[in-house]
Amino acid sequence: MLLLLLFHTTVLLRVLAQRNLTQFGTTRQSSSFTNGLGKPEYAIYPPISNSFYLSTCSYTYLTDFTASAWWMFQFSFGPVYITNITIYYREGFASRMDGFKLYVTNTSTIPPDGYLCYEDTDPGLPNITQTIPCNQLGQYVIYYDNTGSVEGKVVYGPMVELCYIAINDNMAFDSLVAQTPSGSQPANLANDGDKRSCSKTKGFPLIFQVDIKRESIVQGLYITFGEKKEGTHTLYASNTNNAWKSGIILYQGNTLPSEINFNAVFRYLTYVPPVKGTFSELEICEIGIIGCPPSYYGLLCNQSCPGNCDGPCNLKTGNCIFGCLNGWTGDKCEQECPNCHFGRNCSQVCEKCISRRCYPVNGLCHITTACSPGYLYGEYCNKRT
Ligand SMILES: *[C@@H]1O[C@H](CO)[C@@H](O)[C@H](O)[C@H]1NC(C)=O
Ligand SMILES: *[C@@H]1O[C@H](CO)[C@@H](O)[C@H](O)[C@H]1NC(C)=O
Ligand SMILES: *[C@@H]1O[C@H](CO)[C@@H](O)[C@H](O)[C@H]1NC(C)=O
Ligand SMILES: *[C@@H]1O[C@H](CO)[C@@H](O)[C@H](O)[C@H]1NC(C)=O
Ligand SMILES: *[C@@H]1O[C@H](CO)[C@@H](O)[C@H](O)[C@H]1NC(C)=O
Ligand SMILES: *[C@@H]1O[C@H](CO)[C@@H](O)[C@H](O)[C@H]1NC(C)=O
Repeated sequence: MLLLLLFHTTVLLRVLAQRNLTQFGTTRQSSSFTNGLGKPEYAIYPPISNSFYLSTCSYTYLTDFTASAWWMFQFSFGPVYITNITIYYREGFASRMDGFKLYVTNTSTIPPDGYLCYEDTDPGLPNITQTIPCNQLGQYVIYYDNTGSVEGKVVYGPMVELCYIAINDNMAFDSLVAQTPSGSQPANLANDGDKRSCSKTKGFPLIFQVDIKRESIVQGLYITFGEKKEGTHTLYASNTNNAWKSGIILYQGNTLPSEINFNAVFRYLTYVPPVKGTFSELEICEIGIIGCPPSYYGLLCNQSCPGNCDGPCNLKTGNCIFGCLNGWTGDKCEQECPNCHFGRNCSQVCEKCISRRCYPVNGLCHITTACSPGYLYGEYCNKRT
């Protein structure tokens, strides 16, 4: 069954096919150097190393003692379940890292107000490369330092010098990507977690397809193009990889946004780019699908949809989207039909049964021979002699 809902929800829950989350947000820090040096975003760009250059590492000013220095990452699409955070601090400067704290929070408040994943305690200096398990749901990751350092005879205030930071989430499953024709750069560069490496192909007909491996509740899509083409973009949802044209059109238009929200249940997403001349060209740097595996919901996709839903449930609330199986009612279809009612959404009345008593699922009268006057016999008291 292929389903599509015509309303939008704004929560984005889970990014599938992404191992590494730093591309889905923005960075900030307590102070910044001049001339584009030491910018906060350098901490999420490679190289992955402790080697310090102002052009590849984040850097805050030396501050006074009462102040704090911090670096912050904000997920742009709401809370994410963060597993491990890996930090590469500036080589040779463990003394400046000494006493740091790492938080996962839901606000940008400083001092951080949220979950303290790790605090470097005395004695000794921290390892400048470390992987810290947080296992928390949150929208911000904050590296925080309110202790100064002593180097030789010089005393410094708190400082942050992050050369690389990787934030990982908890993957439920990965998706497969394919493009036709196979192209000059492979399709999997579009789901390698790196926006700077892109798939590339050219031809006619041309399609790019994402297989999320099982029918899933999908709520949206992120797409980053290399070079964006003018013309009609079409996104199809289908449950087979070759019959996408008979699937549902999720989007068709001239200005494919980088983030699209919808509500649908499907396995394959097929993108058909605009055609130019006799062929089309396509370069996708990153594509991510947002949703949960079938019959799960919640921020972590680990809560089961109610058993009496007729179809999928809302990913945020768990309410049944298409109503209930026969005999059940309520937002989560957790209540049996009230007396005298049965069927789909309990919308039918057991009027033919004596005392209007019937089974809620199918409307069979409790006592098959006991029909109300005027209805003679039969399980539904609908037969006349
Ligand atoms: C988190 O780190 C631990 C220990 O280094 C490792 O065993 C685990 O696989 C990591 N989990 C993820 C999701 O990277
Ligand atoms: C952030 O908010 C979510 C609910 O949206 C909550 O489940 C989570 O525990 C919060 N995280 C922290 C660190 O407070
Ligand atoms: C520091 O961490 C790295 C990476 O986790 C590890 O290889 C190294 O042995 C650690 N060094 C010390 C002194 O603990
Ligand atoms: C994070 O993603 C970058 C590219 O975006 C990749 O080079 C790096 O290996 C990833 N880091 C981890 C720890 O997965
Ligand atoms: C979902 O996962 C979180 C984190 O592992 C856990 O705390 C929570 O109890 C889980 N919920 C269910 C319903 O399994
Ligand atoms: C049952 O309720 C759902 C959701 O409220 C609605 O979409 C559907 O049309 C209803 N079906 C019937 C037969 O009333």
